[in-house]
Amino acid sequence: MVSYKELGLVNTKELFAQAVSGGYALPAYNFNNLEQLQAIIQACVETKSPVILQVSSGARKYANQTLLRYMAQGAVQYAKELGYAIPIVLHLDHGDTYELCQSCIEYGFSSVMIDGSHLAYDENVALTKKVVEYAHQHDVTVEGELGVLAGVEDEVSAETHTYTRPEEVEDFVRKTGVDSLAISIGTSHGAFKFKPGQEPQIRLDILAEIEKRIPGFPIVLHGSSSVPPEYVDLINKYGGKMEAAIGIPEEQLRAAAKSAVCKINIDSDGRLAMTAAVRKVFAEKPAEFDPRKYLGPARDLLKELYKHKNIEVLGSANKA
Ligand code: G3H
Ligand code: 13P
Ligand code: ZN
Repeated sequence: MVSYKELGLVNTKELFAQAVSGGYALPAYNFNNLEQLQAIIQACVETKSPVILQVSSGARKYANQTLLRYMAQGAVQYAKELGYAIPIVLHLDHGDTYELCQSCIEYGFSSVMIDGSHLAYDENVALTKKVVEYAHQHDVTVEGELGVLAGVEDEVSAETHTYTRPEEVEDFVRKTGVDSLAISIGTSHGAFKFKPGQEPQIRLDILAEIEKRIPGFPIVLHGSSSVPPEYVDLINKYGGKMEAAIGIPEEQLRAAAKSAVCKINIDSDGRLAMTAAVRKVFAEKPAEFDPRKYLGPARDLLKELYKHKNIEVLGSANKA
């Protein structure tokens, strides 16, 4: 057992309180490899933004949980070396069992999500409460979820949204003791969030209704990539096939960030940026075979993307 505090990481408690009162959202960026982590830390140091590093079950399988833990630990020192010690949270994204959450806490995570959103309400309450009881003994913060997002997340996939029912949130928060709540208001995972011709619109009215029921309580939005058309165009121009990829308009995320939404999850946009940059190098320099020559440009584009998010969308720049 290692405490995240020994690693120089922080939990979300204070950061969420500041984000809610300051009218901005913290960036929650997923990482699976070195270049993603470097881009996240560089961007957040340069914009002086706190950051939540997210690790999914898929990331643990892909990169190895021990390596990811030490990488996050290294990120604390890396930020200092870059010149600014930003607050860094290491968060489990979409934890699906008590045992997984417990294992991550023992590995040094400072925050975990227990995603019981696919369970019956009472089962979600029971599982989330159990995780909270363990996590709080170690001063680790917990994110729960109510409502189901459409799209694919690891092994779970849903065809349509089940919007969060505002009448349930107060009871859920009280019974479970969670520190933050992920809600379903029309965002979804992946790069295909709306059908062509469909208005890309999230339900800010449901968010407002939820805020009314639990004023000042930290709300989380998953599935919040904007799927920038310039990346999709680059991918398609250089041999990809990603027609009809559509995300959440930035101005809607900006509006959400100004409200009680204090954590916004972004993964797919980073994947698109990296893929676009790698495809461009492969197309323009077919003789190139040094991974640094294509992963380097991918990292640079990723960093620019994250800086843009922090400054223009989330409002987290200069909040560290
Ligand atoms: O919510 C899903 C995140 O984008 C993580 O994706 O499970 O493929 O690592 P992943
Ligand atoms: P996107 O697929 O929209 O980037 O969402 C990521 C996410 O919610 C991670 O938990
Ligand atoms: Zn998610």
